Amino acid sequence: MLDAATLKADFPVLQQTVHNDVPLVYLDSAASSQKPQSVIDALSQIDSTVYANVHRGAHWLSDESTALYEESREAVASFIHAANSREIVFTTGTTGAINIVARSWGDANVIEGDEILLTRLEHHSNIVPWQQLAQRTGAQIKWCDITDDGHLDMEQFQQLLSERTKVVACTMASNVLGTCTPADEITKLAHAAGAIVVLDAAQAAPHRVLNVEQLDADFIAFSAHKMLGPSGIGILYGKEALLEDMPPFLGGGSMINVVSDDGFTTAALPAKFEAGTPAITPALAFPASIKYLKQVGLENIQEHEHQLATYAHEQLTALGKVNILGPAPHEKAGIVSFTVDDLHPHDLTHALDNQGVAIRAGHHCAMPLHKRLGLSASARASFYLYNTSDDVDTLVRALDKAIALFS
Ligand code: ALA
Repeated sequence: MLDAATLKADFPVLQQTVHNDVPLVYLDSAASSQKPQSVIDALSQIDSTVYANVHRGAHWLSDESTALYEESREAVASFIHAANSREIVFTTGTTGAINIVARSWGDANVIEGDEILLTRLEHHSNIVPWQQLAQRTGAQIKWCDITDDGHLDMEQFQQLLSERTKVVACTMASNVLGTCTPADEITKLAHAAGAIVVLDAAQAAPHRVLNVEQLDADFIAFSAHKMLGPSGIGILYGKEALLEDMPPFLGGGSMINVVSDDGFTTAALPAKFEAGTPAITPALAFPASIKYLKQVGLENIQEHEHQLATYAHEQLTALGKVNILGPAPHEKAGIVSFTVDDLHPHDLTHALDNQGVAIRAGHHCAMPLHKRLGLSASARASFYLYNTSDDVDTLVRALDKAIALFS
């Protein structure tokens, strides 16, 4: 098991006090996680020693930087058990990755009358690119609902799948309810219907082992900034054969082989999808966060977050007035969203912030899900490897005070 209190000492941000000396309790890692000193050092060391543009210069610095960029790609491939690093495309993040698939694969393969199957659990990054694709092509969006206890309605999922379904786009873990979806079953069913599968792993890759070969999904997207890494860099994993067949999305430097007056030829994978100068320092520093996660152990992280979610459910329920959204803790990721009777989530979050407790309030970029829940907003506490049961106690005490303040 991991020792969260010891790990927390590796994260300088978490040692701070805020608002006139209140200790910071950070429970917003689903939005963005914090960085351990080793990642902060890696970022600074890269900029002080090897920073130069990648795949461009014929000089020592550029060669060093390019070698580390490709080493980073190898580290990501190994982390998610991809067959080879040509299947790893550096993107700006999960949103950037899904937009590549919707634009490139989508525009080349989806036509009027086709169907795109989404789930009510999706956040906007895995909704809007598909709605834009539907607008461009005349394809139809179909929505798979959730059950009242916050699981994906797999019966309805099967009913909605048909020979018209071209794409199934599904999260692996809801950023609001924490619901973990049966991604392998979804992939099998979708493939049997002839559809491709796009998995949003933004809330999964940071918290559990991701084995893309076993999952067999066609595309998987995630972001470094939710996994102790820098912002501005994310990953699109795609099956090599699919990526090979796809036209490039963005045009510019790096993605070409030859450019002439008459046109261009495209670079080989994965450069074909990496137009322009990438987020060089974040890309080179990403392996430092992967190393940290591997040292702690993804299984340990997953188990620790389950324990925190379970404890939070117990303690929040004991307060009364708190309505926890989504499945039971043993069935979800370390995300606990809730509402409090007669108290707007924004007021609540403000009151908690005054006590040093950082949680998120709002629709969490998941408006259709909130509408389905009959809510305009909710409050969300999300846990990571550096959170302790003391953090949960502080949350509950602060919430108790906030409820008393507003009643
Ligand atoms: N999707 C991110 C969140 O859930 C930003 O907060």
